[in-house]
Amino acid sequence: MSRRPIMAGNWKMNNLTSESKSLIEGILAGIKDLNESQMPEVIVAPTFTSLSLVSDMISGNSKIALAAQNCHWESSGAYTGEVSVEMLKDLGCSYIIIGHSERRQYFSETDEMINKKAKSILAGGLLPIICCGETLEQRESGVTDEHIASQIRAALSGLSNSDIAKSVIAYEPIWAIGTGKTCDSVEANRVIAMIRNVVKEVSDSSTADSIRILYGGSVKPATIEEQMSMSDIDGALIGGASLKADSFNEIITNSMKVAV
Ligand code: 13P
Repeated sequence: MSRRPIMAGNWKMNNLTSESKSLIEGILAGIKDLNESQMPEVIVAPTFTSLSLVSDMISGNSKIALAAQNCHWESSGAYTGEVSVEMLKDLGCSYIIIGHSERRQYFSETDEMINKKAKSILAGGLLPIICCGETLEQRESGVTDEHIASQIRAALSGLSNSDIAKSVIAYEPIWAIGTGKTCDSVEANRVIAMIRNVVKEVSDSSTADSIRILYGGSVKPATIEEQMSMSDIDGALIGGASLKADSFNEIITNSMKVAV
């Protein structure tokens, strides 16, 4: 089964609107001459404040899609500071990142909240990018697999197989995020294959074959080729290296050197 790769840039809490404008201009210039049928699906996830601007700038361009970095699961109401799926759809988002370790760690997001968000995103016709990952302590104490498996089971609980098949998972070991310490590709592939197996347990094998599972954590132009040559890694969720058009574009073009 061939799964279309995804290269997604998570801009996190960076970029004023003027900076988002130059970054997206640089990315658009970099992908302009690439052959769409050979390209990965390119996604950018700006902050809420830059979504509208970036949405306008990529409007009508089928080579690039828009993601938000978070949402609330309710459709409207008295939830000060929150943003609903419908509002993000209205701005042109196709994807919403949920369960990023920074949200779990600093904003106390639980597996139950992430599951509610996944359901609300899919009900609204958008697609979730569901993040999971272990701390260094969990890795060193040998509980990585059981921790990740339980995050995935909880996030996908109650979803139909067709909704699971359309969803995206990102495996981001927390100790590899923003540290420059990329997870060894063979090990990242092993965990991602384990995740695919958990998906199969909660759905079926064709769903597990369809779902795209990305790796995230210090992905750079120099690491992507090896990562994309692995059997189960379907793309990357990129933080720091997605904040410069040159490095993000190089990641995209380097990823295309690997036949999928
Ligand atoms: P870095 O690429 O900066 O390590 O960030 C990864 C990440 O958290 C993407 O969501």
